[in-house]
Amino acid sequence: MEPERSERGRRILLGVSGGIAAYKAPELVRRLRERDFAVRCALTPAAAAFVSPLALEVVTGRPVHREEYLAPTGSGAEIHIEAAAWADLLLIAPATAHTLASLALGLADNFLLTTALAFRGPIVVAPALHSAMWENPALQARVAELRARGVSLVGPAVGPLASGEVGMGRMAEVAEIVGAVERTVAPGDLAGRTVLVTAGPTFEPIDPVRFLGNRSSGKMGFAIAAETARRGARTVLVSGPVALATPPGVERVEVETALEMEAAVRERAGACDLVVMAAAVADFRPRERAATKIRKSAGAPRLDLVANPDILSRLPDWAPAALRVGFAAETGNPDDAARQKLAEKDAHLLIANDVSRPEIGFGADDNEVTVHRRGAPPLLLGRRPKSALARDLVDLFAAELRARRGEDLADGR
Ligand code: CTP
Repeated sequence: MEPERSERGRRILLGVSGGIAAYKAPELVRRLRERDFAVRCALTPAAAAFVSPLALEVVTGRPVHREEYLAPTGSGAEIHIEAAAWADLLLIAPATAHTLASLALGLADNFLLTTALAFRGPIVVAPALHSAMWENPALQARVAELRARGVSLVGPAVGPLASGEVGMGRMAEVAEIVGAVERTVAPGDLAGRTVLVTAGPTFEPIDPVRFLGNRSSGKMGFAIAAETARRGARTVLVSGPVALATPPGVERVEVETALEMEAAVRERAGACDLVVMAAAVADFRPRERAATKIRKSAGAPRLDLVANPDILSRLPDWAPAALRVGFAAETGNPDDAARQKLAEKDAHLLIANDVSRPEIGFGADDNEVTVHRRGAPPLLLGRRPKSALARDLVDLFAAELRARRGEDLADGR
């Protein structure tokens, strides 16, 4: 049941009510799915006039809820109850004046509202309506009730309205809505922690135009940093040269060579609770870096290589209190080498993957790993997107950190 596991905590019921902003719903679903949310849609009767249920069915990959009551299987299950139990978060975007007021009053005269009434989890609403309606005290009183009950509002924003006027009432931008959803579902279990993650390759210069490098894309390390930041940790990402955007809330330190990465980690590791070495650090560098471009006419150059420092192995000195996590990029069965590296590098966790498999290796969007731990059996995390894997790995790191804190307390430290 892999897909079920990676959906854990990230199932969204998207309620779409009948306003012009409903045309943005498929785009919103796309952006949510990119972030590994599983999405089901429930349309109010009016919404179907603004957005095609078929389009939503295609982008969610699931049937769209309209006004049905009993499950077609004949099981007697009430679908609104089942849908409310399925979802981890109810997002209503756009939320019209009618839907907002009904939600506040507990009215239940369509599928979405009945489901909302049965739903026990967090609710995020993105109002979209004309400014005159938004500002009406009758509606503002209902919105205040929703806020008081813990419903999160995102928007509305000021901008051009469907009427051609400009005013307060426009639905918040899709990215903003996704951000509000992320903040609402984030467990925040790493608040107060400091995390350092390394990612990407290192480049070891030969001359001003050439270098020794490797195929690491940085995706796995960036996904882990994104996840620790999302869960409240102060996150520093020491990155080799990669073409990836900095995840929200992450402090990025750019380096090029293994020596620069070593210096960046040495400086910061002592203040960290968790250090994750996801970078593919070059083991060797050219002893000399030619000051000018090496010419072909000089014949095939001989590269004299020297060993780079092993950063992970130094962490016990620099960050003795931190949880230390390494990766092992292997070709072929990675597990024996991973066990050896766990011991040799004195890490607490060593995460092994087989980079010779194109569907899960360098640059791929998916990964499959085995986690080796001291004194515990290895744990296989089967193939899944790197962002979903990052979530599962950070769950493990968070559990280890909690266990260590518990031990410290027991020791009276
Ligand atoms: N690592 C490191 N410093 C190095 C080389 C590797 O900190 N100079 C870290 C990596 O970030 C990773 C772990 O050590 O977390 C294992 O890296 P890997 O390249 O798989 O192993 P190596 O020790 O380089 O051994 P080999 O290349 O022989 O497999």
